[in-house]
Amino acid sequence: MTNDDHPSQPNRRQFLLTGGSAVAATVMAATVGDEPHAAQTAAGAAVPAVEGAVPITLRINSTDHSIRIDPRTTLLDCLRETLALTGTKKGCDHGQCGACTVHVNGRRVLSCLNLALMHDGHEITTIEGLGTPEAMHPMQTAFYAHDAYQCGYCTSGQIMSAARIAEGAMRT
Ligand code: FES
Repeated sequence: MTNDDHPSQPNRRQFLLTGGSAVAATVMAATVGDEPHAAQTAAGAAVPAVEGAVPITLRINSTDHSIRIDPRTTLLDCLRETLALTGTKKGCDHGQCGACTVHVNGRRVLSCLNLALMHDGHEITTIEGLGTPEAMHPMQTAFYAHDAYQCGYCTSGQIMSAARIAEGAMRT
């Protein structure tokens, strides 16, 4: 006997379908309407305006992104949620794991502990800008060569951190 035999007990597939529809309807309701200050993500999707949003320009991976954001937005959430740069990962979200490491003006920064607003006009590098599949950063090459991924979730943070440490060590 399956849950299909008992409409009052929906199965997992029915729950996901119903839940997915509800989420889509909620997102649609939140984004429909006049959006005079809507921004765009790196993927081209519109970002709904937020009351009290402020304009900033973040220079990320040599590209300027002029957006309006809630001033309480962390750099991590801005990268991931507003600009769809999801290579930077959210682990602990309070400065302990390093999964969210990016470079700001040449220094390692935990993006979960910084407000995006603090970096208006700063030069930010994320894992997406460190190298390319055709021309990897030496640290990416080393991780690849030594199969250093472990589960892979925080690999981008490890590479961003290690890359800056190695470059610093080479300068001294
Ligand atoms: Fe863990 Fe930022 S997400 S230090």
